[in-house]
Amino acid sequence: MSTPIKTLCPYCGVGCGLEVIPTDNSQSSSPAPPLPCSPASYKVRGDRSHPSSQGMVCVKGATVVEAIDRDRLLYPMWRESLDQEFQRISWEEAFQKIVDRIRLVQGAIGRDGICVYGSGQFLTEDYYTAQKLVKGCLGTNNFDANSRLCMSSAVSGYVQSLGSDGPPCCYDDLELTDCAFIVGSNAAECHPIAFNRFRKHHKRNPNVKLIVVDPRRTETAEAADLHLPIRPGTDIDLFNGMAYLLKQWGADQPKFIDRHTSSFAEFEEVIQHYSPQVTADRCGITVEQLEQAARMWAESDQVLSLWSMGMNQSSEGTAKVRSLINLHLLTGQIGKPGAGPFSLTGQPNAMGGREAGGLSHLLPGYRFVKSDWHRVEVERAWKLPAGSISPDPGRTVWDMITGLETGDVGLVWIAATNPIVSLPDLERSKAALRRSPFTVYQEAYYPTETAAYAHLLLPACQWSEKTGTMTNSERRVTLCPAFRPAPGEAKPDWEIFAEVGRRLGFTEQFAFQSAAEVHAEFVQLTRDRVCDMTGISHDRLQRSGPLQYPLAEGQSNGTPRLYTDLRFPTPDGRARFGAYYSRGLAEPPDEDFPYVLTTGRLYGHWHTQTRTGRIEKIRQMYPNPFIEIHPRDAAQLEVNEGEWVEIRSRRGMARFPAKVTRAIAPGTLFVPMHWGELWADQAEANALTHPTACPDSKQPELKACAVQIIPIRQESQSDQALSEVVTEALLQLAEN
Ligand code: SF4
Ligand code: MOS
Repeated sequence: MSTPIKTLCPYCGVGCGLEVIPTDNSQSSSPAPPLPCSPASYKVRGDRSHPSSQGMVCVKGATVVEAIDRDRLLYPMWRESLDQEFQRISWEEAFQKIVDRIRLVQGAIGRDGICVYGSGQFLTEDYYTAQKLVKGCLGTNNFDANSRLCMSSAVSGYVQSLGSDGPPCCYDDLELTDCAFIVGSNAAECHPIAFNRFRKHHKRNPNVKLIVVDPRRTETAEAADLHLPIRPGTDIDLFNGMAYLLKQWGADQPKFIDRHTSSFAEFEEVIQHYSPQVTADRCGITVEQLEQAARMWAESDQVLSLWSMGMNQSSEGTAKVRSLINLHLLTGQIGKPGAGPFSLTGQPNAMGGREAGGLSHLLPGYRFVKSDWHRVEVERAWKLPAGSISPDPGRTVWDMITGLETGDVGLVWIAATNPIVSLPDLERSKAALRRSPFTVYQEAYYPTETAAYAHLLLPACQWSEKTGTMTNSERRVTLCPAFRPAPGEAKPDWEIFAEVGRRLGFTEQFAFQSAAEVHAEFVQLTRDRVCDMTGISHDRLQRSGPLQYPLAEGQSNGTPRLYTDLRFPTPDGRARFGAYYSRGLAEPPDEDFPYVLTTGRLYGHWHTQTRTGRIEKIRQMYPNPFIEIHPRDAAQLEVNEGEWVEIRSRRGMARFPAKVTRAIAPGTLFVPMHWGELWADQAEANALTHPTACPDSKQPELKACAVQIIPIRQESQSDQALSEVVTEALLQLAEN
């Protein structure tokens, strides 16, 4: 048995440590490694020494090597137009095509005609190099990442309420809290190992409480002491109503509010309007349930709230996040063990993306495009002339879609993500991408749904084939080393960006010889910021294992919790209350579209199945997509378990077999978002969703849209089939 390679699971934001053990098979590889390498040549187990996960893994982490060699994109491929076949080309030709096209678009449209769309699958080094290329050298802020769809509301909520991005808590808090308040997160399935740490603590200590707020009775809700199945879109009502009660009962902390917060008066004014009866009616729960939740919060010494996309994917996502943080400020539940507002990130390195400035309004080191001083700092570090970075926030991914529609975008470069499954309003997104004059798609796998919309395919290395760092939800950075050769001609994403930069003439900016050098440069841009990582290097991570930032140069230990001194990175050092009335859903149900459709994830699958759809064990766990319908609605529609229904929204349609269950509230439907056109016929959740977004975070409301259901009757199905046969026959007759 050879020495285990320590790395991080490349799926979710929990960030579990893995040990990969090469078996004899993989050791015997000849100098030119055979392709495909057999996945059986690696064993994977949890890394007991990793502080975040302590040796645990879920089914995704355990099976990760099984997809690493399936359906890989091996060479650059090119086609003039989307109706042609791809032809293999050399990297030399591929780079030339990109560079030529960048110059062409710069001349014809201007620097903002170029868009790059990356992903939380990037390593921090990939993210950083892309920022330098796009925002620095190309002078456009049109770099966005799929994190826009996932947690940009958490970012803007933290920034507005606490003064900076950065989840203030750590996973140890899951074992120190008296009360976990989980909102819009099915952590038991989607962040299973973080949830397990809490679940064990909860089971051992009967006094520890779990409140789960979710329109679905998820597996997470099943474990709760109190489940609040609120009506979709009423989160702010609930939080304000809880604040009303906490205040009335004297459970607020006037001293903390007085010394460490601002804008309390405006908040106090708003919550007056949320009496228990009003709140309960809006949320669709009972006054008793509301009081119970507020009482559990009031009676706990430490309250930890956790949330993910159920809060973030909303047209008022930032307001939701801030309204939840309000409860922590009202009761002084922040800056101490076991307490605080704790967002869970979706992807393995969504956090690294935030640190490196990987959204269209950000710059590296938790900086902002809009800040004159931040731009100057970054331009100096990048040795670029003053004014190189544009002061205007770039296009978010949805603005890229609309920019294609209007012809203002001439080049889209997509990397490590699959927007043709994950974007809202897919029909419109597909039509926009079909119009794209030039689409580059940099991916590890082929085919994916998005590849069908590309002109140029670039083969990218994935996890296990490139070295770099990832940061998990608790601000812990882990080094992920390359431990196997890249298949075919695949390259690390950062190397591709750097090579394009050099070919555009920025040789000094992209002189990196290794990922460690990229990282060393990047951390200099985090100095004295909340994400200070100047004390972290590849070398140190290699020697000491994962490290938690802030960790400044010369510091011997990382920082488990932020704001323990109760000073916040705002100009006056105080955290800010945010005062919001709920505006409700962007597309409320009405007579024509009477149901609210919500979307989500399943335990074994990862996002658009690019990897998990290629793993037999996981496919068997979930052979088909489905829709959850409450028995009351099913009875009204005369739909039985397993019968097919057609779901229509104002934008599109999809078909699913019904899963009749009390786990979903009446009037609400649930479909998983994992099935794109590659894996099922007409089962795309996002064919139905809409792009209306939070005005602050620009995150679309993927969690709720208005739909109608039409049962597909067995007879009518065969009728339809029959009529198609008849039509076909008639047509043939006519032709003959
Ligand atoms: Fe990987 Fe997340 Fe599962 Fe941990 S919980 S093994 S990080 S998918
Ligand atoms: Mo996310 S899926 O935390 O970018």
